[in-house]
Parts: sequence; structure tokens; C-alpha cells
Amino acid sequence: MRSDATPVISQRLPMHNTSAPTEQLKIVIVGHVDHGKSTFVGRLFHDTGSLPEGKLEQLQKIAERRGVPFEWANLMDALQSERDQNITIDTAQIWFRTPKRQYVIIDAPGHKEFLKNMITGAANAEAALLLIDANEGVQENSRRHGYLLNLLGIRQIAVLVNKMDLEGYSEEKFNAIEGEYRAWLKSIGVTPKVFIPIAAKHGDNIASRSAQMPWYSGATVLETLDQFNVTDLPLHQPLRFPIQDVYRFDERRILAGRVEAGRIRVGDRLVFSPTNKTSTVKTIERWNSPATDSASAGESIGVTLTEQIFVERGAVAALETDPPHELNRFKARLFWLGRQPLRTGRPYKLKLATQEAECFVESIDKVIDASTLGTVERPAAERVVGRHEVGELVLRTKRPIAFDAHSDIVVTGRFVVVDGLEVSGGGIVVDDNYPRRSGVGAAKSQNIFWSEAKITPQQRADRNGHRGRVLWLTGLSGSGKSTLATELERELFTQGKHAYVLDGDNVRHGLCKDLGFSPADRAENIRRVGEVARLMAEAGIICITAFVSPYRADRDLVRGLMKPGEFMEIFVDAPLEVCEQRDPKGLYAKARANEIPDFTGVSAPYETPLNPEVVLKTAELNVQESISKILELLHMQDDDAPIFI
Ligand code: ADX
Repeated sequence: MRSDATPVISQRLPMHNTSAPTEQLKIVIVGHVDHGKSTFVGRLFHDTGSLPEGKLEQLQKIAERRGVPFEWANLMDALQSERDQNITIDTAQIWFRTPKRQYVIIDAPGHKEFLKNMITGAANAEAALLLIDANEGVQENSRRHGYLLNLLGIRQIAVLVNKMDLEGYSEEKFNAIEGEYRAWLKSIGVTPKVFIPIAAKHGDNIASRSAQMPWYSGATVLETLDQFNVTDLPLHQPLRFPIQDVYRFDERRILAGRVEAGRIRVGDRLVFSPTNKTSTVKTIERWNSPATDSASAGESIGVTLTEQIFVERGAVAALETDPPHELNRFKARLFWLGRQPLRTGRPYKLKLATQEAECFVESIDKVIDASTLGTVERPAAERVVGRHEVGELVLRTKRPIAFDAHSDIVVTGRFVVVDGLEVSGGGIVVDDNYPRRSGVGAAKSQNIFWSEAKITPQQRADRNGHRGRVLWLTGLSGSGKSTLATELERELFTQGKHAYVLDGDNVRHGLCKDLGFSPADRAENIRRVGEVARLMAEAGIICITAFVSPYRADRDLVRGLMKPGEFMEIFVDAPLEVCEQRDPKGLYAKARANEIPDFTGVSAPYETPLNPEVVLKTAELNVQESISKILELLHMQDDDAPIFI
């Protein structure tokens, strides 16, 4: 029998203070309370020869003197308290090493630390060890932790089934836990590298293979750790340089921050979100070392610019050619830890990279229990995200913020939500075909604020008997858009609804009379009309638009301005030959005679909608049939918030 008080010294690896490895891997060690984390970490330090000289012996003596058994966990507590007093170990991280490399343990086992990690990209872990107690088996927290690791984007995971000694080193027990937990991880899209049966207390399968479990022939914990890859830094992604601080020295301003993705070079043309000001990189400065011509992801630098522009903390610099999305609305998956449930319409603070903005939840589309993955069913009126639940939702910020989909760029694709003073939720931006900002729509005004209405959309809907909507008709000239739009308007008006048509030809007499038919002018035409239509919908009107709107990106941009369900794309689909035959304004004839340049369908493209809410084949349906189809859809729409009430 091995005694707890006398660890097997032969298992200790040599100290490596002569040729210390420089490669580093950041790991997190995660586990349900009491699943043996401290014991495991203590053992790991000991077995890798990473303990301060004499520490173990000192604690063993203390235990002996007190007549209590030595516990590995006490060792970690002792180290922790020294760490807290800033004596022996770096305050932020604790580390051990193997001959191959150093390991930094990011203290991120709990939920709070998870949230901290969501904002401090610096703490990004590359791998995780997840402990499960062989006796207690898979617990709620084990499942939740798996889910969180996935949200954090940690893909290299080893599951350690601990306390095998208390289960008689039973292979069946191990297999049962592996089977259950593997299935769970699979359901959330995670494939662990290995499952290892261990007994942290005795060091089984940690640094050396266990004699107690001859049935296990896989790698030990240390072998597994050494097999993990040091994840590539996002060097080849588009540049993202969130500004942490601006230092002023005389006339010079130095923008300080960490390059979170990509590479920055002297001479690069940068655009700063959210002001959209541009300038050129003059110098790249470093603390305590000479200036260089470039810097890449992971480096903390200072940048000076050729033209002095106003930049403050929270700005995100990117290359002008590859900026982030900049919108005040995005889809997210959010893990909530707040004591109060997350509710729609309430003000919260959003922190994303170095940006902060007031935000609110516009809609909660789905609520998931993070430990079962089951959908939490609640009546629509009580749609909230409770503690330990995950919400799939739409967030709206009071001002535009710069972000990326988490699947594209991690650091600008994740955020935390602060409720009052407490960080209460962490989430990722879900990809949703967000429009890329183009020069056209860039915001020029500053010092503008969103002014809140005192009337809610619900109050307007109650008075009008229906909600505001945008019915966006798109199609070739002559396809029947204006005919259908005006007929639909008349029909809705007769039913006592508030409807209004915005028509291409009409709008081009006023609001858009400065625009022609080049792709850029059409984009601006649709942007303006989209904004007006959105305002009308907000005012409670059913706004029907009739614009060729031939470019998909322009239409998607308008869709992106609105809440899901508020924008309905109606493809008025008639073959070009039919439109040309109809030629109500004689324009096709002129276009064929080369008298109209950029004429849609003749000398300019029409991009058909990919997922329109309705397709109306006007060559086959008469006007009434087409109108009925639209009305039907309006009636069917959205059980939770019917358009007609
Ligand atoms: S859009 O492309 O920007 O959406 P819009 O719907 O406003 O176009 O205007 C289209 C209307 O302008 C057509 O119905 C047609 O009457 C007229 N028009 C004049 N020149 C053109 C052109 N080059 N291409 C398409 N429509 C044109």
C-alpha cells in the first residue's frame, strides 16, 4: 500500500532550470466541486518537479505534527495563498513544466472565470482538462462546463475520470462514464481527445502509467498534454486592433492596444469603428524595445498615425479594405449567470473587445438548459433567460458597434453583458449574413444619441389593430410591383389598416432625385428607402415598397435593419420576355435601342432573391390571386405576435 504522506519520489521528473523550455501552452482545468481538482493540480505539480524546493516536505511535516493525513489539496491551497500574497508565483497564472514546454494554468474552472475569459482575450486557453468523479459520475456541472468550453472556443479537451481508486479501478465504471459523457459532448459538437482513468491522490496515469489499471493502454495525462497543439494565433485573419488607451505626448498621440487578429504594418490605411475616420500608420512602437515596421496578433503595441484624428478607447482599428461589421443589432448565443433573469427591453451594458455600449435584448428566440440542451418552454409573455440557461437572442445596442461573427474572429465575436454592476452573461455573435459596411452607409455624425420613445410598439399596435411591417416587393421593371403595391394598399385601407406605398418612380421625384441607376446610386436609393420604410414600420404602418432593387446585398442590408419577421421580401417574378412585352412605360423598347444605359434585365443585372417570404408568378396569377397570397401570409405570420390583432 502506498502511503498518502510519502509520494513516490521516483515519479518526479528532473527540474529543468538549466534549459527551461520556452514554448507555452495555456490550459484550463475544469470540474464539478469536489471532483478532485486541487488534488489533481497538486499531484501534477509534484510529478513534474514544479513545486518550490522543500514545499512538500514542509507541508508533510506540518500534517504530521498536527496528526492529520497530508492532503494534496492543502498543497495547492498553500501555493494559492502565497500566490495571493504575490510571493512566489506570478499573480495571474500558475505554471508547471514538462521537458517539452511550460504550462500555464488559467484559473478558469468556475462560471465567473468563464465570464472573465470572455472579455480578456489574453486569457485564451488552448486546451482543457475536465475532471469527473468516478463515483459521482457525470453531473449537471460537468455537462455545463463542456458547453462553456465549447462557447469559449476551446477544442482540445481531455476528460479525466478521477478517484478510480475509490471505485476499485473498475474498467466497467470508467467505460460507463466515458460512454455517457462522450455522447453528451457529441450532442454539442465536441470531440474530446481522450478519456483517461486516473487517481489523482496516488498519481495513477498522471506522470506514469498506473499498475492498478492494466486494462488502460492509452496516454497518461502528461503525455496527452504534450500532444496538444499550441494553437496558431490568428495571424492570417483580417486585422483587428481594439484601442485600449490613447496616450498624449506633446503633439504626438499613441494609440495603445493588443493586436487581436491579423497583422499591422507601417503605411497601412486604417479605418476606426465606430467613427469611420481613416488614417495611415506612421510608426509602431513597443514598450522597452525599438519601433518596428509591423506587428501581429498577440502583440501589445502603440501606434502613431500620419493624420491626427480623434480616436478614443473602445475604437476598433481595421484595414480599410477589410473592416468588421458595424451595426447596432446582432444575433447571439448567451450564457446567463445573473441572479435576475435576462429580460427583453431592459437596459444592460455590453462589452465587446474594448467597446462598451448600452444594449437591450430585442427578442429571445430560444432558451436552452445548458446542462441538458433541452429547450426551456415558457409562455411567450414570460420569455426570459434564467440563471445557467443559454438564450438564442437578438441584441440591439444604442449605438453601432464593431463586431465579427465568432466563427470568423473569436475576440471580436464574443462579449459579456453587465447587469447593473455585475458581469452576468457571456456570449458569442452568431453568424447571420450581416451586411459589410460600405463607404456609402458610413456614419459621419458624432455626438448623437438614441432618443427613446414613450410609446411602445405594442401600444401602437393595440390602437391600430395591427403591427408595423415592411412588405418589400422586388422584381424587374414591368413585373407588376406598382400594380400589386397600390392594389394591396387599397385592400388594406378598405379593411381599416394603415398602409402606405413607397414607389420607385415616385421616390425618385423627391427623396432620391439626385440618384441615377449605377450600382452605387441604386445602393444608396435602396438604403434611403429602407431607412424610411423602417421608420414607417416603427410608426406602426404597413409599408409596401415597389423597387426594382436588383442587388441582393442592398435588399439584405434593409432586412438587417429590421427585427426578424418585420421585413417580408416579396419576389414579383415575371419572365423578362413577359415584362418586355408588357413594357408599360415603353422603357424596354428604349433600352433595346440603347437609349437607356444600365437598364435592369437588358444591360444591368437582376439578382433573384434566394429566400423570399413570397414568390408571386405574375405571368400565371391575376392581381387578386397575388394579393390573396400576401394577405394569407400576413394572417399566418407569427403566432406569438400576430400582425393583425
Ligand atoms: S432601383 O434599381 O433603384 O430599385 P427603382 O425601383 O428606384 O430602381 O426605379 C426603377 C424605375 O425607374 C423603373 O420602374 C423604371 O420605370 C425607371 N427606370 C429608369 N431607368 C431605369 C434603369 N436604367 N433601370 C431600371 N429602371 C429604370
